Amino acid sequence: MAKVEKTFTKEEADALHARRREEQSSEVSRRARDKVQMPGVWSRRDFFGRLGWAGFGLFALTTVMAGMRSAFPRVLFKPDTTFKAGRPDDFPIGEVSEKFKKDFRVWIVRNETGMYALYAKCTHLGCTPRWLSTESKFKCPCHGSGFYQTGINFEGPAPRPLERVRVAMAEDGQLLIDVGVRYRQENGEWEKAGAFLRV
Ligand code: FES
Repeated sequence: MAKVEKTFTKEEADALHARRREEQSSEVSRRARDKVQMPGVWSRRDFFGRLGWAGFGLFALTTVMAGMRSAFPRVLFKPDTTFKAGRPDDFPIGEVSEKFKKDFRVWIVRNETGMYALYAKCTHLGCTPRWLSTESKFKCPCHGSGFYQTGINFEGPAPRPLERVRVAMAEDGQLLIDVGVRYRQENGEWEKAGAFLRV
């Protein structure tokens, strides 16, 4: 069906344009009024505008924080495991020194030929044994494991000897102990330099 186009006279067209202008103007006024009366209610444009700024702010903040984080390298600061224990003559032959047990969990032992240091941690479940000088043995209070002065286990559930830690001579003539280096007897490591120091 052919489309019939309506033609307006000039007066009608002017009236139509005038009505549209009036409607637009009243719509603008209505919105302005709504804004004043309801300041807490955002228009859709306001909402998306603020959402966009919030997203940008979040992105900028993340970028700045990532930049600051990269200024600090990921370094794990471990406590120093070495300490100086004094001169060999400070340790009587045949005795077990408990001087460093509290701070470093180490016993220092001197025998006829040299010195070694035992780590004071039971090889059963990790309790701290006691040195019983009258019985000349280390005894674990948890489940009763016993160790000779050498560190070899001989009773209780402990499956292996105590571990030794590194002992060396520092330049100033003092013993240098490193709790971070351990030696296991069952692996043949007590033969290594560091597991025993001849003095
Ligand atoms: S932890 Fe030492 S005997 Fe069990």
